[in-house]
Amino acid sequence: MATLAIQRLYDIVTRSPEETIAFGRRLAETLRPPCLALLEGDLGSGKTTLAKGVASALAAAREEDVTSPSFTLVHEYGSPGAAPDARVYHVDLYRIEGPREIESLGLDEIISQGSTVLIEWGERLPQPPPGPLVRIRMDVCGENERHIVVEEETRDC
Ligand SMILES: Nc1ncnc2c1ncn2[C@@H]1O[C@H](COP(=O)(O)OP(=O)(O)OP(=O)(O)O)[C@@H](O)[C@H]1O
Ligand SMILES: [Mg+2]
Repeated sequence: MATLAIQRLYDIVTRSPEETIAFGRRLAETLRPPCLALLEGDLGSGKTTLAKGVASALAAAREEDVTSPSFTLVHEYGSPGAAPDARVYHVDLYRIEGPREIESLGLDEIISQGSTVLIEWGERLPQPPPGPLVRIRMDVCGENERHIVVEEETRDC
């Protein structure tokens, strides 16, 4: 039978978007490639804001270039020709219509490239791929307060 080990890495509250970006930069150490991270939480809970910090730290992206990939579904950050481990893929499943459309994104291929992959609305992934993943849960707990819990999950198959 498959077992799932969960390790809580962070449980914090940020009090401004800037603090969340700074936390994202710090979290980049944990999300070093290859890494799959699911960003979960309601609209406006700060998933894209956190991604700004992660992508600026790992792929030298400018914060203003890290935006919700709502229409293109997948954004790729990293200078042209950068090695996979200097790239960050940023996916948004909010507008996704179902498992078939998720399949058409080619996530398995993206994940197997050895980059860091951040997936907003990651809870919509019907079945996370095998292998370790980091789950980042964000909740609004005040106008400018966001509760962020980061857990690492490892499955034995
Ligand atoms: N502590 C905080 N951390 C992050 N964002 C904050 C914080 N306080 C206020 N905000 C505001 O909350 C909003 C977060 O928006 P963001 O686009 O990051 O959310 P999201 O979770 O990606 O939303 P969506 O589900 O629509 O993609 C921004 O307007 C930001 O300025
Ligand atoms: Mg977003």
